Amino acid sequence: MTLSIRAWRSAILHSLDDPAVVGIEASYQYFEDGLLVVENDKIIALGNSTDLLPIYKDIADITTITNGLITPGFIDTHIHYPQTGIIASYGEQLLDWLNNYTFPAEGEFHDKAHARSVAEFFLDELLRNGTTTALVFGTVHKESVDAFFEASEARNLRMIGGKVMMDRHAPDFLVDTPESGYQDSKELIQKWHEKGRLHYAVTPRFAPTSTTEQLTKAGELLQEFDNLYMHTHLSENTQECEWVKSLFPNCTNYLDVYDQHNLLSDRSVFAHGIHLCDDEYHRLNETGSAIAFCPTSNLFLGSGLFRLNKAEEYGVNVGLGTDVGGGTSFSLLQTLSEAYKVIQLQGEKLSPFKSLYLATLGGARALRLEDKVGTLLVGTEADFVVLDYQATPLLNYRLAQSKSLDETLFVLMTLGDDRTIRQTYSAGKCVHTREEEK
Ligand code: GUN
Ligand code: ZN
Repeated sequence: MTLSIRAWRSAILHSLDDPAVVGIEASYQYFEDGLLVVENDKIIALGNSTDLLPIYKDIADITTITNGLITPGFIDTHIHYPQTGIIASYGEQLLDWLNNYTFPAEGEFHDKAHARSVAEFFLDELLRNGTTTALVFGTVHKESVDAFFEASEARNLRMIGGKVMMDRHAPDFLVDTPESGYQDSKELIQKWHEKGRLHYAVTPRFAPTSTTEQLTKAGELLQEFDNLYMHTHLSENTQECEWVKSLFPNCTNYLDVYDQHNLLSDRSVFAHGIHLCDDEYHRLNETGSAIAFCPTSNLFLGSGLFRLNKAEEYGVNVGLGTDVGGGTSFSLLQTLSEAYKVIQLQGEKLSPFKSLYLATLGGARALRLEDKVGTLLVGTEADFVVLDYQATPLLNYRLAQSKSLDETLFVLMTLGDDRTIRQTYSAGKCVHTREEEK
């Protein structure tokens, strides 16, 4: 037995499939007294302690977790690292919020030193909140993306990012051109795509800020390199939707703008998708594209209520996104608390097991990374979190009265936040320990 093998003995829970497809019981695996065994960066065994301890009895390094739960690390399928500093900006809906807060903040990212310091703070914040993988917007400046990938590489995180492409309807200091956007993106792809645990996403901001020439160039990049992601916004705000209609009169709907420029594939992720028609859900399914459901942002910016039932009806992949700085929390637990309320307002229920799925395996599937992250299955990367049942007096008091796993899970998702994350592990390495644990 080599020294690089370590194990965690704990309650352990992970998703195996979408509860909307296989039913709740078949959707998860739970070990009340489980053992998670890790060799270097990979999971090599998962099961009941009684079964596995005799096999792994020689492991010197076994950590026992009491009053806690191990789950896979959370996956944030839509977030803007350069907007960290404008989270909680008052009073506007999308288009004014972009002009008044977002664009001025993003203008600072031509400065590599600034980008570097925000990227480090941003990654600290993700890990404090148990998020181990994210699909991340940079700004129009390629320095912003270099800074993000350099910081992610140094921590060996599985991250996806890209340079914003936008060549109109934004301040002069924030626009590129179809040619420069293409060249800068290409340079970044060659430098970072599939380097270690990193991946590149071609990132046109949204239809209103790209000309048809630029969207065509974005489509060309996707043809030129394998396994690139495409990351953009879709149908978030009613005024935005009207604007898109007037800018692209020959397109049948908002999604069709992207479709006509060859931007739909099974590695395309569209943030929001609130005001979609049936044809758009159908086309998202047909192309294997995914939606990032961003409830805190959709409520904060007054954008509307995402219809999860429609996505389920049409078999569209959905992940969960914080959309910081439009979103109001880095915590995917807090995001699930708001997701539950968004679904409640439509007279439906979001089960805690569907929530677990959205924050982990659903996100991994949206990003086509389910063979690497999103579960605790043998052979996957050891990205996991330790949740603390006693993180706050209220959580402790409430959970002491829980009578079932689904109740415990629901309470964790309703009351939980960064304090609930006792530890975060990425590729087998502890990358965050809550302050008072140190
Ligand atoms: N649509 C275009 N840009 C943005 C952005 O930065 N945030 C959000 N929420 N929506 C957008
Ligand atoms: Zn966004």
